[in-house]
Amino acid sequence: MAPIAMRPVNEPAAFPDGYAVRPERKNTYKIAQIGADGIGPEVINAGVQVVHAVAKKVGMFKVDFTELDWSSDRYKKSGSYVPADYLDILKQHDAIFFGAVGAPDVPDHISLWGLRLAICQPYMYANVRRTKVLPGTTSPLSNLKPGDLDWCIIRENSEGEYAGHGGRSHRGLEHEIGTEVTIFTRTGIRRIARYAFQVAQSRPRKHLTYVTKSNAMRNGMVLWDEVIKEVAKEFPDVTMDSMLVDAMTVRMTLDPQSLDTILATNLHADILSDLAAALAGSIGIAPTANIDPSRTMPSMFEPIHGSAFDITGMGISNPVGTFWTACEMLDWLGEHEASKILMKAVEQTCADGIKTRDLGGKADTQEVTDAVIERIRAL
Ligand code: IPM
Ligand code: MG
Repeated sequence: MAPIAMRPVNEPAAFPDGYAVRPERKNTYKIAQIGADGIGPEVINAGVQVVHAVAKKVGMFKVDFTELDWSSDRYKKSGSYVPADYLDILKQHDAIFFGAVGAPDVPDHISLWGLRLAICQPYMYANVRRTKVLPGTTSPLSNLKPGDLDWCIIRENSEGEYAGHGGRSHRGLEHEIGTEVTIFTRTGIRRIARYAFQVAQSRPRKHLTYVTKSNAMRNGMVLWDEVIKEVAKEFPDVTMDSMLVDAMTVRMTLDPQSLDTILATNLHADILSDLAAALAGSIGIAPTANIDPSRTMPSMFEPIHGSAFDITGMGISNPVGTFWTACEMLDWLGEHEASKILMKAVEQTCADGIKTRDLGGKADTQEVTDAVIERIRAL
């Protein structure tokens, strides 16, 4: 892999300030709160506390959370994760603050399509996953210093391998068939590529790496490459390179400093973002933003981790992923100052060693939450 000249790392903006559609600053933001399953409600409850604290600190806006019971429990009682008019309900909000979905007694593909994809797939075509090594967390890569790994993964969120096309026939017979058809559209690729370039442009290094597998997948992935290269011409100030997805795992592990903004398909980015979270030290800290760049629908913000039924109700889940998620949400709403204060308070808390067990600490969820609130007040 060829070395790339990189500009020095500064504090990158979470979301580009030059969005096509800028946020509308409000006195009160209405947020749909969906804790959903497992530890989801616990971490979202912690997140709500810190958002109120940081709003109070900034003193310019309030946040009004509406709790929605959309979850596997609702599904088991009523046969549906969401009411029929769920998109209309969501539309009345400025953002969605989401915990985790998945229950041991519901097949994963039912819960995923019933709730998370039902909400995100129609409009939120950009999934943004930032990764960095936070103070107080240790990367398994022994030579990595904080700042060496600072990535923003842009995941195509509405088509590709998750398009939902396919079927099964000849059920139970020896020659049973199951197909899962990957769909790429010019429109879908162009819009995600534009968004990824905007994000890359907003970060100091102005560099985008796009991930592909067009050596083996000779149709959709070749279209993917072609459209991304076309879009690149609109962003002459952003440098670009490409990686085959298999080689990308090697580069992420052996040469993490060479990467900044990463664009990948739905499935490739799903896999690479777990690797990214692990390399940064913990899956418990990473945020996800499901963005509708057109702002037609509210965007949805969730920690990257799952519902973790094994520790549900024990009060020990790590709320940091949700706090960082809340920072992303505040940024998307245009409340950059609040976002920065919250992130600083989280970093200070981690640096002071107030961490949950998954990060090698002793604190429980509420202790970490209280520590962050204390630091917000003191900042
Ligand atoms: C993620 C998750 C989901 C996905 C799972 C729960 C289906 O891994 O958000 O990355 O693959 O999209
Ligand atoms: Mg995943």
